[in-house]
Amino acid sequence: MKTIIYDMSDPEQAERGYKEAAEILRAGGNVAFPTETVYGLGGWTGSEEAVRGIFTAKGRPSDNPLIVHVCPGMDLSPIAVRIPETARELMRRFWPGPLTLILWKAPEVPDAVSAGLPSVAVRMPSHPVAMRMLEVSGLPVAAPSANLSGRPSPTTAEHVREDMQGRIPLILDGGPCEIGLESTIVDMTVKPPMVLRPGGLPLETLREVVPDLRMDPGLGVAANVTPKAPGMKYRHYAPKAPMTMALGTPSEQEEKIRQALAQARGKKRGVLTVSEHVKDYDAEAVLAIGSLDDPDEMAAHLFDALRRFDELECDVIFAETIPQKGIGTAYMNRLRKACGGSTI
Ligand code: TXA
Ligand code: MG
Repeated sequence: MKTIIYDMSDPEQAERGYKEAAEILRAGGNVAFPTETVYGLGGWTGSEEAVRGIFTAKGRPSDNPLIVHVCPGMDLSPIAVRIPETARELMRRFWPGPLTLILWKAPEVPDAVSAGLPSVAVRMPSHPVAMRMLEVSGLPVAAPSANLSGRPSPTTAEHVREDMQGRIPLILDGGPCEIGLESTIVDMTVKPPMVLRPGGLPLETLREVVPDLRMDPGLGVAANVTPKAPGMKYRHYAPKAPMTMALGTPSEQEEKIRQALAQARGKKRGVLTVSEHVKDYDAEAVLAIGSLDDPDEMAAHLFDALRRFDELECDVIFAETIPQKGIGTAYMNRLRKACGGSTI
């Protein structure tokens, strides 16, 4: 299959892009599109062929449910039922935006979308290209992140091309994703509501509306509990080389990484760091993904860095860590997964 990529910042290509995306989606095909979090691989929720196509293109286990993407004005009643008032309040406050709500599934949503669960994940992305694509097609679109299963989520159209070339007919290129980490997922079918995945919307902000918000115990570092979001149990985001994260203050981290680098001499060594520390490391691949005081910038570039360590064929990787507040909670969740829990 030939994969066409349209640059959506070009008005002519954008017009063609929306038109062809709508045609493909209505016919049960798949389209990759940008959101403010990561790129998604979409298919019409109502088409079994489209939903099957997503799982095939990604190589995704079929027990991992998809998020249904909607746009402003779309009727939610054929998607979710018995929507609690708190969920409506969250929608009013944070949609469109990086928040996914788990709601009771309407019978119209095929079981393949929810992987047989009685609930369904719903989100309204704020990226203008995603919004327009949903609006033009007029369809609810089921979409996971547009990476091959097990690879980091794509935050540029180029990442999508790397993973999906020849597997899907169309990629809408909307530039690099602003947030760069996936949406925050909150289960609204339980009381009090429970966070199943930290993400683009900080938990501190969510607590302004839901003060009694709980965290899924399965997200804990030490916990031997299976996470409630089926996708969180899979090995994710991992670069090919073993990766270890350094704990402690920035200077303690730096000292630990310098020692580890000295011990790993002779190997191709990678370091994930900030611009302030680049010159302090003697290693083959030192990637600065932002500034020490700008965790948003680091979050936006994390997945790109993980892909680059693979390209550079590193043998070992060491990463600095950031405080778990604001976007830092989601950042550290993804980094911990990439490191498989390995710390120094
Ligand atoms: O930011 C995002 O959420 C991106 C963009 C494309 O919107 N999408 C995304 O999708 O990250 P995906 O499929 O990579 O992750 C969806 C997560 C998985 O961990 C899945 O198990 C969980 O949501 N999920 C979906 N439906 C669920 C349900 N009914 N109950 C619990 N977890 C659910
Ligand atoms: Mg994913």
